[in-house]
Amino acid sequence: MSSAITKEIEAHRQPDHEIHPQFLTRWSPRAFKEQEVPDDVLHSVFEAARWAPSGSNLQPWRYIIAHTPEQRSRFLEFINPFNVEWCQKAPVLAVVASQTKAANGNHNGSHAFDAGTSWGYLALEAANQGLITHAMGGFDKAKAREILHVPDEYELHAVIAIGYRGPKESLSERYLNREFPSSRNPVSDMVFEADFGQKWS
Ligand SMILES: Cc1cc2nc3c(=O)[nH]c(=O)nc-3n(C[C@H](O)[C@H](O)[C@H](O)COP(=O)(O)O)c2cc1C
Repeated sequence: MSSAITKEIEAHRQPDHEIHPQFLTRWSPRAFKEQEVPDDVLHSVFEAARWAPSGSNLQPWRYIIAHTPEQRSRFLEFINPFNVEWCQKAPVLAVVASQTKAANGNHNGSHAFDAGTSWGYLALEAANQGLITHAMGGFDKAKAREILHVPDEYELHAVIAIGYRGPKESLSERYLNREFPSSRNPVSDMVFEADFGQKWS
């Protein structure tokens, strides 16, 4: 995937205002090609995640990656079966977690917000690198914590499937009809002026 707008993207995503095409071309297919991601490409993807902004620059995000068959099979133990069905073909799986406390022991109120920003950066760089990503909240967090030995002060957020896009015909019928870029609500639904709910004029 690159930032060039394809017919497939154009058919489903039209911005109301001009933006960089990368925001439209990143989406979350489920059909993965069984093709490994070279180490240098994977490093670039996490390099982008590294440069996200965070409260007090605490950089609370942590990623635990699986990129060998043995590592992936451990991850598949805690991912919900409806996600395993398609993500088992992804060459890389990554758990996103974040540290809930600052160094002084105080709660870091922005850890989840910051981890979300970091994954967003990751997803955009992955698309720049010709990869697809698909986040999953459908996994057993307690089981993942146990299997991956994640300490209590880290919260688990999502598992990200990373790899190259495969043919949609490789998907079961359940997912085949959903393999297209989704659209979005209008800006007027999410930006208010001066007061919550007040239309931005
Ligand atoms: C935190 C999070 C959890 C998600 N969980 C799942 C999931 O468990 N299974 C799945 O198939 N997709 C999951 N998704 C994918 C979303 O459904 C998808 O990102 C959303 O519909 C927007 O589509 P797009 O990413 O193609 O733009 C998740 C996405 C996010 C950000």
